[in-house]
Amino acid sequence: MSPSTTGVKLVSSTLRAAQRNGKSTLPSLKNRLALYRMASTYAWGLKDASLIRSQGFIDGKWVDAKEGGKFAVTNPSTAEELGSIPDMGLNETQEAIAAASKAFKSWSKKTAKERHDLLMKFFALMKENEDDLSRLITIENGKPMKEAKGEHAYSASFIEWFAEEAVRTYGEFIPCPLPGTRNVVIKQPVGVVSILTPWNFPSAMITRKLGAALAAGCTAVIKPPSETPYSCLALVELATRAGIPPGVINVVTTHANIAEVGRELCENADVKKVSFTGSTSVGKMLYKYAAGTMKKVSIEAGGNAPFIVFDDADIDAAVEGALVCKFRGSGQTCVCANRIYVQSSIYAEFASRLAEKVAAFKVGDGFDEQTTHGPLIHDRAVEKVQTHVDDAVKRGAQLLHGGKRLDGKGSFFAPTILADVPKDALVCQEETFGPLAALIKFETEEEVIKLANDTSVGLAGYFFSRDVGRVWRVAEALEVGMVGTNTGAISQAVIPFGGVKESGLGREGGHGIEEYMNVKFIAFGGL
Ligand code: SIN
Repeated sequence: MSPSTTGVKLVSSTLRAAQRNGKSTLPSLKNRLALYRMASTYAWGLKDASLIRSQGFIDGKWVDAKEGGKFAVTNPSTAEELGSIPDMGLNETQEAIAAASKAFKSWSKKTAKERHDLLMKFFALMKENEDDLSRLITIENGKPMKEAKGEHAYSASFIEWFAEEAVRTYGEFIPCPLPGTRNVVIKQPVGVVSILTPWNFPSAMITRKLGAALAAGCTAVIKPPSETPYSCLALVELATRAGIPPGVINVVTTHANIAEVGRELCENADVKKVSFTGSTSVGKMLYKYAAGTMKKVSIEAGGNAPFIVFDDADIDAAVEGALVCKFRGSGQTCVCANRIYVQSSIYAEFASRLAEKVAAFKVGDGFDEQTTHGPLIHDRAVEKVQTHVDDAVKRGAQLLHGGKRLDGKGSFFAPTILADVPKDALVCQEETFGPLAALIKFETEEEVIKLANDTSVGLAGYFFSRDVGRVWRVAEALEVGMVGTNTGAISQAVIPFGGVKESGLGREGGHGIEEYMNVKFIAFGGL
């Protein structure tokens, strides 16, 4: 385990105090480890410090990188180093895939009910450890504790949902036109699955994929994001306590070797499916790697979500929807509103009400109870938002609120509202992934649908209207995988989550267990 720097200082001062008191010999290794554990618990505020795992996990064992390399993980609110994690490479990735292949033989043979029961134990442990797991999310990602608890509940709901789905992977009986033959369809787990996840939901993006994979009877090799590995490792610790056998879940942590690890996870012939959430550019690259062995792939890539407010909308509801949709995770979600189109007759009113609400946000450390919004993940993210703001202003947009980095050590950016953003501005072309609300005026339904669809991606789209005819028309016309009408919050475990166009392939959540299974047809002849 890896105590934070605060924890280390605490241990050192305890040891110095012991020496001052005449106990010149060092405490035994066991006692020193216990001290580190206490210090770590103290520093991170966890009730159970053994959830802080800082090694990879292969074939049921916590392991370091073979060549001993490590990378640092930083708290984005304080810029303090939290600890260091093994920087694994090709060898460890191949070992993890081999372990998952071996474990697949027995895991896939368990009955669906046995897998359901183990996943429900894992779910129960996640619930029991809600505070600790939420704290880990806040420590490494920065989102406020209230939001981290929301992510934790979302994360646990995937394990519960897929435990329930495990026992419902029904086949089919198809009436046969040939005499003396019966047609049956069964579903079987695909095999070893590679799981590659982003830092914006350190916990939920793991369980959305892992829950489905394990429920289907697959085994997994996870590559968690190097910015937020601790949540993943804590989940694996709990899955192990729940009784999920060695080799079924493996974790390869990496930073410097990410390119070779990612490639191996997609190219290795023993991997049968790749599930990735992240940027469109990385998604396209992994898709190419996976094509060589014709693997199944699920890719949930970037969005550039339109959020449309028509003049017949409930404006209060639309403002609330925009706040939730735009500023969740400080704007760092793939489904965040990116372009906010407001019909001209209500434009000024909407803009001023939104600005008033945003002015009341409290940006800060996620552990401060007053904080409503946390930092961005790192300084590169801050720079990207600044580039989008400066570019839009240069092209004529008006700054209504925010617009710059906030003082302090962490990666904080002021929640920002820009009005009259021209359609050639960068923020209209690509997702900002930050707390920038770009307002654009429109006149007609036809015009706004054209604007909304004028992008190469299509993950989520939102609109507010009370005209039932328009609700149907616009919902059908938006070129996206998911639509929120009169709501800015669509994410749940039970829905088919995913996009169209360059936002990706496949669906997660909902009936997403199917993506981890092969369909097999069996003809029973000679009857
Ligand atoms: C994402 O940002 O990739 C996922 C967002 C969600 O599940 O709501």
